[in-house]
Amino acid sequence: MNQVIETLLNHRSVRDFEDKPLTWEQVETIVASAQAASTSSFLQAYSIIGVTDREKKEKLAEVVGNQPYVAKNGHFFVFCADLHRHAVVGEMENVDVTSPIESTEKFMVAVVDASLAAQNAAAAAESMGLGICYIGGVRNNLEAVRQILKTPDHVLPVFGMAVGYPASLNDRKPRLPLRHVYMENEYQQDEQLYKKQLEEYNEIVAGYYAERTGGKRRDTWTGQMASMLEKKARMYMKEFVAKIKMNIR
Ligand SMILES: Cc1cc2nc3c(=O)[nH]c(=O)nc-3n(C[C@H](O)[C@H](O)[C@H](O)COP(=O)(O)O)c2cc1C
Repeated sequence: MNQVIETLLNHRSVRDFEDKPLTWEQVETIVASAQAASTSSFLQAYSIIGVTDREKKEKLAEVVGNQPYVAKNGHFFVFCADLHRHAVVGEMENVDVTSPIESTEKFMVAVVDASLAAQNAAAAAESMGLGICYIGGVRNNLEAVRQILKTPDHVLPVFGMAVGYPASLNDRKPRLPLRHVYMENEYQQDEQLYKKQLEEYNEIVAGYYAERTGGKRRDTWTGQMASMLEKKARMYMKEFVAKIKMNIR
């Protein structure tokens, strides 16, 4: 155990922040930590947009599905998968890069790069005593987000991240037991074992919710997942991504 691991294991999303802005030094440290993440083939295929304008934050809070902590936090970041910079590279170097930039492979590279950078940012912020919450709600209405942030083609806002001083803290949410997610040498193929493991995890999750709500809520994990997955969500994504000229080849 060391401080890095303690910080990682102590994570819980924070959705209630003090109205106290981060200093530029804090923002700089968080972004520099994000940038230190590994990046596929040195592509650095992401951008981070810090949203400081009050009106924009209020508008974003609304379009992500009325999440007030998108407006009230210490700083709000939007992590974008970004291949626009590489289109500029093509122009500078007089090379036609259109086809690779618009490929599924480079789309995945950019989403992975943005995610790795974001998780480094999250760990850095948490190590500074700040709280974070990812905001996938950014993908609820990407057309609106694109207009607010003025992102060009080849740039996909993947998620936001609210960062700030926690005003209150949730309990840590129990993850799947390690033996459920860690397999050795080959994929675990026994479906009966899979179901048994999920029943075990349901008990853990139900206990967590019961304790958090004084016995009012006893959601299971499979129940939560099933009710979420039976609803269609963000079904416009394929078309939107193609419209901004990503993932089309
Ligand atoms: C990519 C991503 C998007 C997320 N989007 C949201 C969101 O829009 N709103 C929110 O309140 N939490 C969001 N979360 C937080 C998750 O709900 C949370 O991480 C998960 O329930 C586990 O809880 P914990 O982070 O407290 O351990 C998101 C997390 C990730 C990784």
